[in-house]
Amino acid sequence: MDESWLCSQVCANCLYAGIIVIMKRPQYHFTPPRNWMNDPSGLIYLDGKYHLFYQHNPYSVKWEHLHWGHAVSEDLLTWHHLPLALRETEEGVMAYSGCTVFDGNNTSGFGTSNNPPLIAIYTEADGRIQAQSLAYSLDRGINFTPYEDNPVLDIFTPHFRDPRVFWYNDHWVMAVALAEEDTIRFYGSPDLKTWELLSDFGPHGAIADYWECPDIYPLNLNGQTRWILQVSVGDHTPMGGSGIQYFVGHFDGVQFTTKQEAVKWMDYGQDFYAAQSWLNAPQLTTIGWMNNLAYANASPAAEWRGQQSLPRHLSLVNFAGDAYIKQQPIPIASHYKDYWHFDKPRGELDFYGDALDIKAKFSGEFTIRVNNTVIGWVHDSLFVDRSASENIKFHPEVSTRHEAPLFFALEEVRIVVDTHSVEVFAGPLTISSLVFPTKQELWVGGEVNSLEVWRS
Ligand code: FRU
Repeated sequence: MDESWLCSQVCANCLYAGIIVIMKRPQYHFTPPRNWMNDPSGLIYLDGKYHLFYQHNPYSVKWEHLHWGHAVSEDLLTWHHLPLALRETEEGVMAYSGCTVFDGNNTSGFGTSNNPPLIAIYTEADGRIQAQSLAYSLDRGINFTPYEDNPVLDIFTPHFRDPRVFWYNDHWVMAVALAEEDTIRFYGSPDLKTWELLSDFGPHGAIADYWECPDIYPLNLNGQTRWILQVSVGDHTPMGGSGIQYFVGHFDGVQFTTKQEAVKWMDYGQDFYAAQSWLNAPQLTTIGWMNNLAYANASPAAEWRGQQSLPRHLSLVNFAGDAYIKQQPIPIASHYKDYWHFDKPRGELDFYGDALDIKAKFSGEFTIRVNNTVIGWVHDSLFVDRSASENIKFHPEVSTRHEAPLFFALEEVRIVVDTHSVEVFAGPLTISSLVFPTKQELWVGGEVNSLEVWRS
């Protein structure tokens, strides 16, 4: 099948009327079969399969009419698309982001002890009020039935969204955003239907704009449990537009606390948002929407618009005396076709590709230009510069250079390049960027000692 599409929509949506972007399906990244996609939602690992639900408009490539799309995978690389899981109602109430939980003890009573339900907890948004609702599935996530007494949590406020629910000892806990108050509110429940207020966290850290899409999970640090609270910030981040901050702290089933003062960012690029981790997965793994609220509706599109990031394994590691999340891409070796190894490479390297996995080791500042995007180390920052990448100025808020502070000794980077993205991983830093290159090249300068390249 020819998977290249001439983009027609982008010409109408972008500032540069007349741009023609050739959109080629990514190799490692999830895209919807058609139309609009934003946040990953409802991520859960069940019966050996990773479920990925996502914010989806089945009618066009624009953000509106939000439903939940659905796909499953055994390896997080090859996805099988499934029918829509949740729908906008006939009255136009949209199904915003949320989560799913497997109610193994049938605490909700939606299933039986022999056939416990998978339950989606999501925000219903009617344009006036946002409230939390349930839908249950008795066939392990294929068909969902909305609960007849929805919503189950309504405080009659317009910016209350993105419930993240998990089981803690003997009760369900929900973290949910009071977006305009820069607060994550925690609720507890015995049965997912009745919710009691537990505590509030925030405002704290980056509060220049609204908070949404909380995620919360434990990670091990030198044999001790730390809890991470991750919060998406809607605008005015240092990266430009939206981004994700996280807090390292403690959670006792009721309240999240932290001593952290400095803001920690999950990603220093402009294209990693609303990330969520898979509940019950063998290894803690997250995925984010590769776009930015500031310009998503104008980003180049074909018959689909939007891709998810590479799924990433998360761990907590000490760098320069403080605890940071380290993200590592899931294994993608099953896609590799060719391999090269270069010792002290300099200048243009004689091969090309649009899906590459690159490992570079170096002893000082360097520059690697790959398919028109420049990745490098200069002074005390790691940067990604996409200004030479064509088709990138589709919106005034797209910034072309992204820098992350190098506060630790850097010796190696991993760069995963796909048809429309570059993701850079270096210790606790990641920089994720959408790109729309027309040229294939690899050029190396500076103190690179070795370069390994796998092409898919
Ligand atoms: C984040 C977000 C969520 C909301 C969803 C609606 O991108 O704004 O807060 O639930 O998108 O599509």
